[in-house]
Formats: sequence, structure tokens, C-alpha cells
Amino acid sequence: MTDKQLRVSKIENGTVIDHVHGGQALNVLAILGIDGSGGEQVSIGMNVPSDTLATKDVVKVEGRELSQDEVDVLSLIAPDATINIVREYDVVEKHRVDRPETVTGVLSCPNHNCITNADEPVETRFAVLRDGVRCEFCEQIVREDIANHIGGD
Ligand code: CTP
Ligand code: ZN
Repeated sequence: MTDKQLRVSKIENGTVIDHVHGGQALNVLAILGIDGSGGEQVSIGMNVPSDTLATKDVVKVEGRELSQDEVDVLSLIAPDATINIVREYDVVEKHRVDRPETVTGVLSCPNHNCITNADEPVETRFAVLRDGVRCEFCEQIVREDIANHIGGD
């Protein structure tokens, strides 16, 4: 990168989610439940050049160290993401996302008759399959566009 190119600034403390497939940055924030109302400083790079992907998105969350459980859910939409924990400007931990066995409270079920869509205090839960997710209440399978189902309650 040359000095003429603008880059997203380094962060002091927090989490950098790197190598997100181009265009998925906003879905990453949605999955993590970050909408700005929590007061975090968030920087986003979209469709920036990458060594390993054609283009990538980068999400930097200042002041918050995301747990492995939180970031594992990202594997559904960002399977190649790298999670970097930053302290005092240094990357002190770097790991990949892992596919979790289940995802709770993140996705909504597309089946209108599902109990999770009735007026009941039931949190959504999906089993993670090799090529999609399956609702643990009604067995509905979602294979494509999982990002369209973010926002489970
Ligand atoms: N980063 C940051 N703030 C810091 C340190 C790092 O925003 N204080 C970002 C970098 O811009 C990069 C990511 O965190 O997007 C990983 O940093 P680093 O490990 O230094 O970069 P690379 O070695 O290029 O990472 P990788 O090998 O994972 O591509
Ligand atoms: Zn369901």
C-alpha cells in the first residue's frame, strides 16, 4: 500500500475482524449486535484490496474484546475471517473463526408457523450443518442467504 492510499486507522484496544468476504461487513455488525447504540467506536473498510481474497471487508471495534463464542457465529457468513485482539496497539491474539455446533438468538426462523415466531418467550436456536442451519424447533433448513435471517428474537 502506498502513502497515497487511505487506510482505516489502527486501533488502540479492541478487536479487528479481518479477511471478511467483500460486502459482508454490515452483516458482521448485525450478527454481533453492534448498531452504534452501545457507544463502541467502530471502523469499517469495505471492498479493500487483500493479499488472500480478491477484496475484503475489515471491521474494527474499539474498546471491546469479542469472545471466541461471539465471533464463531461469524463463521456462517465470514468463514475466512481472522480475529485479532489488540492491546496497546499490538495484536496480542490472532485466531480463526470456528463453526459452532449451534447458534442461539442470532437468526430468525423463516417458517411463520414456528414457535419462535409466535408470541412466546422462546429464543431461536439453529443447528449448524455443513451447508446451512436447521431450526431446532421446527426443523426448517436455511441453506442460502443466511445473512437475510439475522435478527433472531
Ligand atoms: N490492526 C489494527 N490496529 C492495530 C493493530 C492491527 O487495526 N493496533 C489491524 C491491521 O490493520 C490488520 C489486522 O489488525 O488489518 C491484523 O494486523 P497484523 O497482524 O499486524 O497484520 P497482518 O500480519 O497483515 O495480518 P494477517 O497475517 O492476519 O493478514
Ligand atoms: Zn423454526
